[in-house]
Amino acid sequence: MRPVGAGLVAALAAGALMSCGSLDELTGTKVDTVGQVRFENRLAIPPLADSELDSEGRRVFTLTAESGESEFRPGESTETWGFNGSYLGPTLRASRGEEVRVDFRNDLDEATTVHWHGMHLPAESDGGPHQMIEAGGSWSPTWEIDQPATTLWYHPHPHGDTEEHVYRGLAGMFIVDDDEEAELELPREYGVDDIPVIVQDKRFADDGSLVEDDRERLGILGDTLLVNGTYGPYLDVSSERVRLRLLNGSTARTYDFGFSDGRDFALIATDGGLLERPAELDRIQLSPGERAEIVVTMEPRGRAVLRSYPPDLEPGSDTSRKDGGEDTFDVLQLRAAAELDPSPAVPTELAEISELDPGEAAETREFELRSHRINGEEMDMERIDTVVTKDTTEIWEVENGHGQPHTFHVHDVQFQVLDVDGEPPPPELSGWKDTIQLPPGVPVRLIMRFEDYADPDSPYMYHCHLLRHEDEGMMAQFVVVEPGEEAGEPPAHGEPGHDHAEDHG
Ligand code: C2O
Ligand code: CU
Ligand code: CU
Repeated sequence: MRPVGAGLVAALAAGALMSCGSLDELTGTKVDTVGQVRFENRLAIPPLADSELDSEGRRVFTLTAESGESEFRPGESTETWGFNGSYLGPTLRASRGEEVRVDFRNDLDEATTVHWHGMHLPAESDGGPHQMIEAGGSWSPTWEIDQPATTLWYHPHPHGDTEEHVYRGLAGMFIVDDDEEAELELPREYGVDDIPVIVQDKRFADDGSLVEDDRERLGILGDTLLVNGTYGPYLDVSSERVRLRLLNGSTARTYDFGFSDGRDFALIATDGGLLERPAELDRIQLSPGERAEIVVTMEPRGRAVLRSYPPDLEPGSDTSRKDGGEDTFDVLQLRAAAELDPSPAVPTELAEISELDPGEAAETREFELRSHRINGEEMDMERIDTVVTKDTTEIWEVENGHGQPHTFHVHDVQFQVLDVDGEPPPPELSGWKDTIQLPPGVPVRLIMRFEDYADPDSPYMYHCHLLRHEDEGMMAQFVVVEPGEEAGEPPAHGEPGHDHAEDHG
């Protein structure tokens, strides 16, 4: 069942103007699905990807981007894209210290890429806009997993088309394991008490197709949620505690997750891994691309509805409604069995996080995100914006200088938040992060260390993770170089055909 009530009223009010702009742009329609979601469908759990060890001991996964059809709602077929299937992709899983290789094939009719969001890896394997894979082409990036246990994800990154490719369904989770995390008494049985929860908003047309041409400034804001591609999902819970790996896999929408009965949960991990200790929270706000792992405690036969409350986007602004700042969604129902397997209490100590020292920063840089630009420049594939020296620490002061939501993401590294508006970070920003929401006008200081990989010719990206903003140019490039080395030249792609002209010229 779709929450069409409010939309219908707005449609009548908007009348003849409807064809020249989205409803929300004209009316700021508020979405509220509370009580309208029936939780009739068992939550799909993305399968764990099969892998094989190659002759050099590398763990090899196979991913194929393809188009297909999905039936999210009974009797309604939707054209979608997915990896190894018609929507989303399998969960990749590997341990710290392992070498991995992903054999990727693009069976779509157009070029795309696959980027490993949050992964520390060589720029050549990063899957950003310089690693375009043509239709019918393939690519086999390889790298060593070398970062703490955490929940990462993968998605396409073709410059200008990322929003569309992700929105159509190309995304999946990548779980990193390590020995420290494995020793903790945390729920860890995948699909049983350790659950991927990929939350995405969609807008469906009457014929079941995905609406893609929404003109809102943030990109498409859907009125219908899918979790792991399941519409109206419920999850059967068989143990006292369940770990949810929340991923905001939406292109533009920010969620403020909590439970409908206000119960607390333990926040145990953020983008880049475990917190030092769990934080008891009743809400966790995630902007596009951010992840959080929470542990929820259930009673026998208990029900709990994961809900998204109106997120805090633009304090004091009157455009918040247009950006989804007044929207409420029922997300997922947890249904506990009559008898629950006992689960140990959440450990009070989770991980050691060595604090990066601002006194050791080799460089402090400022970035302002404003009007589809970073520091006044639109993304240019052939311009290196920032040159970083390998094995140095830097402080990046980032500010949203514009009256709309932005979310800052840096490839290759996990950063620590030094302060937000001069104040120490709240628990949800106290661990490793690769993506952070930027409230307008609030300076955020990040500290990060660039290790292992130097390559003057292969840039990594930093950008707004509202994917329409990224596509429109709110993105820039950095290279990591050896001490004293200069930036090289990114591979020239230029206009379509440019490479060929040069090759044969
Ligand atoms: Cu999740 Cu540059 O991307
Ligand atoms: Cu990324
Ligand atoms: Cu933005």
